[in-house]
This record gives sequence, structure tokens and C-alpha cells, in this order.
Amino acid sequence: MKTLLIVYHTQGVKTAQMAEAVARGAHAALHEAQADGEVRVIVKRCADASAEDLLGADALALGTPENFGYMSGMMKDFLERVFYPCEGRVEGRPWALFVSAGQDGRGAITSVERIVTGLRLKKVRDPILALREVTPPILAQCEELGATLAAGIAAGVL
Ligand SMILES: Cc1cc2nc3c(=O)[nH]c(=O)nc-3n(C[C@H](O)[C@H](O)[C@H](O)COP(=O)(O)O)c2cc1C
Repeated sequence: MKTLLIVYHTQGVKTAQMAEAVARGAHAALHEAQADGEVRVIVKRCADASAEDLLGADALALGTPENFGYMSGMMKDFLERVFYPCEGRVEGRPWALFVSAGQDGRGAITSVERIVTGLRLKKVRDPILALREVTPPILAQCEELGATLAAGIAAGVL
């Protein structure tokens, strides 16, 4: 069975709502493709996620708020813990990012992308950025991301 791993941090609710939407989209796409049994969808907060989780993932979605112009401290902690154990061992696996921010978001996006570049994952779409509100169109983008990743690894096309 393949695995879609969704790792996120939230200090409130917004990034969690986005993570839930990614998972919802993944489950819906798998159900539609009658591939429910082919992909496991795992949702973890950064604090609970490990290098083993990432090594076992066929696709990755990362979600963080922007704090002080950067990714959240918990996302940085996760990336610091997994970087060296995973370096050279997850190359080419599909990934994408979702960010929740008050008014900017660029610092969170740039900082995560810079680190993930070192893991040589394959970015499947531009980051999803929710500014101020997590609107229905943003949630729809998150669902679409989950569907793309789950259906893509189920079909072996990502
Ligand atoms: C300590 C702290 C620092 C923040 N710094 C920024 C920032 O630099 N840029 C920004 O756009 N929003 C900033 N925000 C706003 C959050 O990114 C925004 O409220 C986000 O949607 C929170 O997501 P959450 O509900 O998942 O925790 C900050 C919030 C906190 C609590």
C-alpha cells in the first residue's frame, strides 16, 4: 500500500482546516477511483511526525502558518529532525505546500521551499496561500491538492 503523508502545524485552526481539506480531497479521489485500499492517508502534526514517517511516504503535503516572516517553529523543528536521516533517500517523491498567513506568507513559503529543495522532492504545484481567511476557494484548492497527490501515487503517475 502507498502512503500520502500530510504534516502540518497550527497554533489556531486555519492550517488544520487546510490539512483536513487535503485529506478530504485525497479520500474523495481515492473513493472515486475505487482505489481506497491502495493509498493510506496519514495526517500528523509536526510535533508527532518523524523521519520514519517521511521515509515511508510516497507523497508529502506540508502545511504551516507564517510566524515572524518564516515557517512556524514546529515546522522548522520537524524539518531539522528529518533532513539528514532523509537526505538522499526521498529524492523525486511528489510534494506540495500550504500556508496560512495574516498578511504576507512569502517568508513561510521561501523558507520551507529552500529546505525541501535539499531533499530533492518533486514539487507538484505552487504553494496554496490562505491570507487572513481560509475561504471556500482555498479549501477547494487544498482538496484538489489531496486528490492530485493521492490519485497520482495510486496510479503511479507522480
Ligand atoms: C507569533 C505569530 C507571528 C506571526 N507572524 C506573521 C507574519 O510574519 N506574517 C504574517 O503574514 N502573519 C503572521 N502571523 C499570523 C498567522 O500567520 C496567521 O494568523 C495564521 O493564519 C495562523 O494560522 P493557524 O490558525 O493555523 O495558527 C503571526 C501569528 C503569530 C501568532
